[in-house]
Amino acid sequence: MSFLQHFPHHRPRRLRKDEFTRRLVREHALTSADLIYPVFVLDQAEGTQDIPSMPGVKRLGRSALFEAAEQCVALGIPVMALFPVIDPSLKTPDGQEALNPEGLVPRTVRELKSRFPGLGVMTDVALDPFTSHGQDGLLDDTGYILNDETVAVLTRQALVQAEAGVDIVAPSDMMDGRIGAIRQALESQGLIHTRIMAYSAKYASAFYGPFRDAVGSKGNLGKADKKVYQMDPANSDEALREVGLDIAEGADMVMVKPGMPYLDIVRRVKDEFHVPTFAYQVSGEYAMLKAAAANGWLDHDAVMMESLLAFKRAGADGVLTYFALEAARQLQAR
Ligand code: PBG
Repeated sequence: MSFLQHFPHHRPRRLRKDEFTRRLVREHALTSADLIYPVFVLDQAEGTQDIPSMPGVKRLGRSALFEAAEQCVALGIPVMALFPVIDPSLKTPDGQEALNPEGLVPRTVRELKSRFPGLGVMTDVALDPFTSHGQDGLLDDTGYILNDETVAVLTRQALVQAEAGVDIVAPSDMMDGRIGAIRQALESQGLIHTRIMAYSAKYASAFYGPFRDAVGSKGNLGKADKKVYQMDPANSDEALREVGLDIAEGADMVMVKPGMPYLDIVRRVKDEFHVPTFAYQVSGEYAMLKAAAANGWLDHDAVMMESLLAFKRAGADGVLTYFALEAARQLQAR
């Protein structure tokens, strides 16, 4: 019997012994440059509104929005993503307000870009904040969400946003062919610099609940769901097909959504396509962590940073997260 059997042949713990070694061999890191900050925008000059299901997140009037933008710049967060809270009186079955060049989104884009030219601004392309039924597209008589008719409207919505000077349009609707249609329209208008971040693998998820509270679409949606266009959570190969189509149609960046329960999808997408890949840590994921932390069941800052690092490990180039400001502050304090 050799003495070798008396000790382990391999001791991986050597590289965990002290902080300097752990830092030396660390494979992944989160930086503020990885973060995109989603914000809910109110059409009012002053004030904010709490969102009970998203503790710490508020709907922001213009002054508060500018303060948030200033924070992003100071903390090195590259992009802010805008989600409008539309007055119920402006919501219609066809979501026409989405096409208003003087609407809340284009106005906010113009104001942000003139005050903070170095801060990236991203806008959602989808009709749900604007429709009286809360769906992302137009309905036929049976309530089915029409594809090509919706794509035609989304294309106009994206053009209105791009003409207002937005840096990134982010179609979050999951209609077929919308990336190609939007890219073609942008090119034909000479808007060759507008980037498209496609919500390519967006699942019909129950984790969006608090977001729908935040933009006020939950009541409009009622008991309806989005399963005839958003993906089945049981599917994984289908995500690759969706991502492949969006890249072929002209997306610059792709996204997987939700985030934490779908890290396997992030990894498969990154391995297969090698394109800038993002993940959205959605409202329900944020709410879960906040609720557990508020009860003292989890260490808030520790789980926040661990969850964000996990996206990097899974292959994401960046994360849309409501924790963006808090996480960037933590990173700055290190
Ligand atoms: C709308 C949209 C949704 C989210 C982003 N854009 C909700 C939905 O599809 O119902 C969800 C984001 C979140 O939950 O944080 N097209």
